[in-house]
Amino acid sequence: MNTIRPIARAILPYQFRVSVANIRNELETLYRPVAFWQAFADFRKLRSFEDVDQRLLERLTFGWGNRYSAHTEYMAAYLRHASQSKGPILECGSGLSTLLLGVVAAHKGSQVWSLEHDQTWGDRVQKLLHRWRLESVKLNVDKLQRYWGFDWYRIPDAQLPQKFSLVVCDGPPGETFGGRYGLIPMMAKYLGPNTTILLDDYERAGEQTIVENWQKQIPCQVEAYGDKRKYSVITIAE
Ligand SMILES: C[S@@+](CC[C@H](N)C(=O)[O-])C[C@H]1O[C@@H](n2cnc3c(N)ncnc32)[C@H](O)[C@@H]1O
Repeated sequence: MNTIRPIARAILPYQFRVSVANIRNELETLYRPVAFWQAFADFRKLRSFEDVDQRLLERLTFGWGNRYSAHTEYMAAYLRHASQSKGPILECGSGLSTLLLGVVAAHKGSQVWSLEHDQTWGDRVQKLLHRWRLESVKLNVDKLQRYWGFDWYRIPDAQLPQKFSLVVCDGPPGETFGGRYGLIPMMAKYLGPNTTILLDDYERAGEQTIVENWQKQIPCQVEAYGDKRKYSVITIAE
């Protein structure tokens, strides 16, 4: 393949190469929903989520087809932690992760609370939760609110459980005022000793600064994982 591409580039006219690339993109767009359906059906058949096959994670992300969705290393980590977690899960930023965590929670008889700020995106995720009958997820869609020096989700206090065992923090988007900083000041009362926070995008300087600030506010242990794209595992201390 590596040797064929440069030769093809040299001999095929530019216009022809562009048309082939366009056709391939069109076919991919048509095929993605089918690929997702098949991959998700296979995922639901799993009996353990501790070590999900990399190929299946790739099929899921290909089928989902969204540049915002998490990378497979982070996916494997949140699935492993979710399957080991002993209580409810909080998710910040919905998407493919909401569906997958919903399957794990349904399997374990536990629940996921997901916070989402974008109404259009939230409607799309909710529709899929409904289609796949994932009642283990409570998706709360509401605009971000301005707090003291940062924006964060509105918190549906009346609906939330007392404590979360796991937080999968992949939102709000990086360009949000204050980024993901609001998690600790706003949600600390729902977190306790041994709650684990999985924070995505830890290769970004913004996320590293946020974690440094969190460390000044709560006793916790921080470990970084991942190669090109990093995530951190933050465990709140006793
Ligand atoms: C990094 S994404 C969350 C991804 C999710 N955890 C997953 O694994 O699929 C953070 C936020 O980006 C927004 N978002 C994700 N995909 C989007 C899309 N295709 N169009 C618009 N907004 C999107 C949503 O508001 C989401 O909460």
